[in-house]
Amino acid sequence: MVVKALVDPEPHYREGAAELLLGDGFFRRDSRPARDCSVLLAWHQARTTTREQPLQWLDLMAGCGIRALRWGLEAGAACSMPPEIVVNDADGDRRSLLEHNLRPLAAATCSNVPAERLLCQAQLEGHRFDLIDLDAFGQPGALLQPALQVLAPEGILVLASTDGRSPTGHDRCGAIRSFGAAARAHPASWELALRQQLGLLARQAWLLGRGIQPLLNFSDGRTFRLAIRLARQLQPGEEAQLGLLARCGTCGAQQSQSLLRLRNWPACHCPAEQGRWAISGPLWLGPLQEIEILKELSGSPVPLAPATRRLLQRLQADPGGLVQVWSTAELARRCGSGPPPLQRLVDALRSRGHQAWPSGVMAGQVRTDADLPELLQICATVQGEGLLMDQRTT
Ligand SMILES: C[S@@+](CC[C@H](N)C(=O)[O-])C[C@H]1O[C@@H](n2cnc3c(N)ncnc32)[C@H](O)[C@@H]1O
Ligand SMILES: [Zn+2]
Repeated sequence: MVVKALVDPEPHYREGAAELLLGDGFFRRDSRPARDCSVLLAWHQARTTTREQPLQWLDLMAGCGIRALRWGLEAGAACSMPPEIVVNDADGDRRSLLEHNLRPLAAATCSNVPAERLLCQAQLEGHRFDLIDLDAFGQPGALLQPALQVLAPEGILVLASTDGRSPTGHDRCGAIRSFGAAARAHPASWELALRQQLGLLARQAWLLGRGIQPLLNFSDGRTFRLAIRLARQLQPGEEAQLGLLARCGTCGAQQSQSLLRLRNWPACHCPAEQGRWAISGPLWLGPLQEIEILKELSGSPVPLAPATRRLLQRLQADPGGLVQVWSTAELARRCGSGPPPLQRLVDALRSRGHQAWPSGVMAGQVRTDADLPELLQICATVQGEGLLMDQRTT
């Protein structure tokens, strides 16, 4: 393929500052926001490092090498020493394509070994990376411990998983195998998948005596994208961020509990104790986004797609610190009305003293600490006010 491309050159694909050949392996143009985020985090690290040695960056499943190339071209100049970049893909047929594409970067090394082997080798050699991008197919769980072992303290791990079935309750045995967790269906399914993956990451990091700080986490429903900083030590109380989320499928009530203070579950809102909690977890109950870093990234010089700018705005508006999230479609069904306008619902909840945000993870969902009966009552009021306003304007 590469030989063919060099004889009969395919046009170069352009993204950010990169111009490269895609080859005929896996590549998705519409994953641009995920690549932009990876470059933004590299830029953040380059800008803030106090290291007197070059940063070590690893694009572990590089495909055509686009992330590594963009790191070098768009983020590398933010620190005084060019980062040293390892660009790896297990597919040997990609080697010459990678070498061709990475030519603009003097400090890049290409390799084509299985990720497992590269990480083991780094461990044996005592090599540490400051940034690892693990853009896997399927469930990357088996690679988490080896990747965390070679991630430097305060290093950043960017992770993708395309396993949506097990963390969302559609493959309950799979969730036990992959996460050691129960997974039950929930309207905020993408968020639960992220929280299951973060819960697993936290437990793997804690085994090493390290902590995790989620930086930015999002999904398009097909791929679940996580970015965390590996903290040198656990934050005080970090263990309390691992817990269970319960939802009653009949009345829709939700409750969460930290494993650290696990007690009996209170009754839901079903009459005569007819409700049944469906419990998911252990999963991450803590924040999903680090707002300060998102603000900084929004002002970076990295060239971003409009979809990435929209994503950053959405994530910035919702720190994801509360685990109870309701879909407005479900609330409307339970109120017997149409879905309430999300922002009006959020404003009404806040005006009654509750915490509330439009979910940054799934459209049309509200994150709030209001209990369900009050939430439904506020929802009905918002609907009623909306109808009244509509009547006045017609
Ligand atoms: C999702 S694609 C990477 C896409 C690329 N990061 C991008 O942004 O366009 C996953 C890549 O991982 C490679 N791969 C799959 N299993 C691997 C393994 N065990 N070790 C290293 N690479 C692997 C595949 O050849 C494929 O190119
Ligand atoms: Zn109930």
